[in-house]
Amino acid sequence: MDTKIVTIDGTLADEEKIKNAGAVIKAGGLVAFPTETVYGLGGDALNPDSAEKIYAAKGRPSDNPLIVHICKIEDLTTIAKEIPQTAYALAERFWPGPFTMIFHKADCVPASTTGGLDTVAVRMPAHETAIKLIASAGGFVAAPSANLSGRPSPTIARYVMEDMQGRIDMILDGGESDIGLESTILDMTAKVPMILRPGYVTKQMLAEVLGEVAADQTLMQGDTKEPPKAPGMKYRHYAPKGKLIIIEGNEEKVLAYINRQITKDRAAGLKSGVIATAATAESYLADSIKNVGSRENESAVAKQLFRILREFDDEKVSVIYAEAFARRGMGQAIMNRLLKAAGHHVISVDQEEKNDSIG
Ligand code: TXA
Ligand code: MG
Repeated sequence: MDTKIVTIDGTLADEEKIKNAGAVIKAGGLVAFPTETVYGLGGDALNPDSAEKIYAAKGRPSDNPLIVHICKIEDLTTIAKEIPQTAYALAERFWPGPFTMIFHKADCVPASTTGGLDTVAVRMPAHETAIKLIASAGGFVAAPSANLSGRPSPTIARYVMEDMQGRIDMILDGGESDIGLESTILDMTAKVPMILRPGYVTKQMLAEVLGEVAADQTLMQGDTKEPPKAPGMKYRHYAPKGKLIIIEGNEEKVLAYINRQITKDRAAGLKSGVIATAATAESYLADSIKNVGSRENESAVAKQLFRILREFDDEKVSVIYAEAFARRGMGQAIMNRLLKAAGHHVISVDQEEKNDSIG
């Protein structure tokens, strides 16, 4: 299959390009498109064959449900039922935006789209191209992130191309995604609405509307007996090809620890990389240093994370050390992705030192 790349450039011709892309989806084809979170791989959510094609293109297990993207709130009632009033209050505040809600599904949504579940995830993205595409594709577009299963989600069209060339019909190139991390997922079928994936919309923001909000206990943990409640969160994810380790603790100790490790890596002939912040970046000895800027500017950190993980692959870095980030607010989403990318490999230098002095 030849994958066509179509650039959306703000000219009048865009309307026609997006309409054509919508027709491809309507006809059962697949089109990757930009959203404010990450690029999505879109197919007709009400066509069971399209969902099968999406799983095949991504190499994704078919028990991992897809998010259905809509372009207006009224369309929610077509695909979901037993929608609580609070959902409308949330939609009012966070749609269009980086926010997904899970409801009981209506019969018109095929089981293949929902990975066999009787619930459906729904999102209305805040991106002009995405909204127009969804409208011209018939109103209901199933779209996972447009990466091969297990790879970091793409935030630019070039990374979609790397993973999807020859596997899908078209890519709409609309530039870099603003947010860079996937949407917050909230399960509205739980007794107390429950966060299944943290994102730009934080627990605190949801609590302002809902009062009480729960969070899946598995979000920040590696080995738990309970499987995560969003099926996709159980898979190793976002992983770079190199070995990624998160180093947490006192800033100076983290710096010293990482530099010691890098010296050993170099002696062993291994190329090293570091995900660093502005305060420390210049002091690392690594072959490749990615400065995400100030630790406090979480939006900027989030926006760069997936791109950086892919850059390490391009540079063939084989050991990567990442500084840790605060686990509250949006930092929770950043750490959730980083922990998954690292397979929950975390070393606490404060702990290390204690161990050293004991042993
Ligand atoms: O920001 C986003 O949400 C992006 C853009 C493209 O919109 N999409 C995205 O989709 O991240 P995906 O497929 O990569 O992640 C969807 C997650 C998976 O972990 C999946 O298991 C979970 O949502 N999910 C979908 N439907 C669900 C359901 N009915 N119940 C529980 N989890 C569900
Ligand atoms: Mg994904």
